[in-house]
Amino acid sequence: MLEQDVVGLDNFATGFRVNLDHVRENVTEQQWRRFSFLEADICDLSACHSACDGVDYVLHQAALGSVPRSVADPLRTNHANVDGFLNMLIASRDASVKRFVYAASSSTYGDHPGLPKVEDLIGKPLSPYAVTKYVNELYATVFSRSYGIDCIGLRYFNVFGPRQDPQGAYAAVIPRWFEQLRQGVAPQINGDGETSRDFCFIDNTVQANLLAATSKNPDARNLVYNVAVGGRTTLNELFYSIRELLSREDARILQIGPVYGGFREGDVRHSQADISRARELLGYQPTHSVDQGLAVTCEWFLVRKS
Ligand SMILES: NC(=O)c1ccc[n+]([C@@H]2O[C@H](COP(=O)([O-])OP(=O)(O)OC[C@H]3O[C@@H](n4cnc5c(N)ncnc54)[C@H](O)[C@@H]3O)[C@@H](O)[C@H]2O)c1
Repeated sequence: MLEQDVVGLDNFATGFRVNLDHVRENVTEQQWRRFSFLEADICDLSACHSACDGVDYVLHQAALGSVPRSVADPLRTNHANVDGFLNMLIASRDASVKRFVYAASSSTYGDHPGLPKVEDLIGKPLSPYAVTKYVNELYATVFSRSYGIDCIGLRYFNVFGPRQDPQGAYAAVIPRWFEQLRQGVAPQINGDGETSRDFCFIDNTVQANLLAATSKNPDARNLVYNVAVGGRTTLNELFYSIRELLSREDARILQIGPVYGGFREGDVRHSQADISRARELLGYQPTHSVDQGLAVTCEWFLVRKS
């Protein structure tokens, strides 16, 4: 797995160049020479063609995340997530890649009340972001039927881990709360705190990507998979876990309580994955529980400079 040529493409709309420095620090000089990077936008089809040329496996992650961002600016989210996605599919088809693995989303379950979520039972989307992620799945299915391109969609459930951006209006809850509590600011919980999610540590997500790209199981192809742990953590539980971890370094943090605000538009109330399809067909086995992932993430936030 380490002896690969790797091409990266990102326009740094929400990502950071410094993360590439971290990659460089963690690989050998020889491995780094096998990495090439294109600063480009997936809305530019020619850039997608350049990135996919000669490539065997595409792991497509680029998109504008965040439900509230999509509610505030649906056109921009649609442009990156649908037009950009389609460009990447076309470029992958034209390069005859062996497999196109892409980041789908648990938001596709929409208003379906079933718990845990099983891949074939989805409801109506609750946000523009969810629409874009569902459209990705529809396009992938049609491209595999029409052009024979092998596609696997990974429905991520609230991914978290080191390097996740804590700043800005659209920051995810875990990095935002780590950063706020470290700075002595009371985090806001949207709603009553009993909203729940199947938080998934980044290493589990990476594992699912590598398995999806390299699986030789013919039954595993052209499907979508839930990628999570299969658990359910409420926002209240999450808050107290993060506070407890940080308080080991600074006991004063225990004095900070949450502030409760209104429910957020477009949010689903509960989310929990059934991960048996990924277990059975891909051999996926999460290595990190939420608590184990939070402990690793906490270490990173403690040494991070604000
Ligand atoms: N984080 C989660 O909980 C979660 C849950 C479900 C799905 N997803 C999906 O996983 C993928 C990765 O999300 P993330 O949380 O790591 O977000 P992120 O913002 O950290 O990463 C997305 C990357 O895509 C890049 N990007 C955005 N628009 C681009 C464009 N037009 N051209 C080129 N690059 C572009 C950004 O600069 C960034 O580096 C996304 O597709 C997202 O929708 C994430």
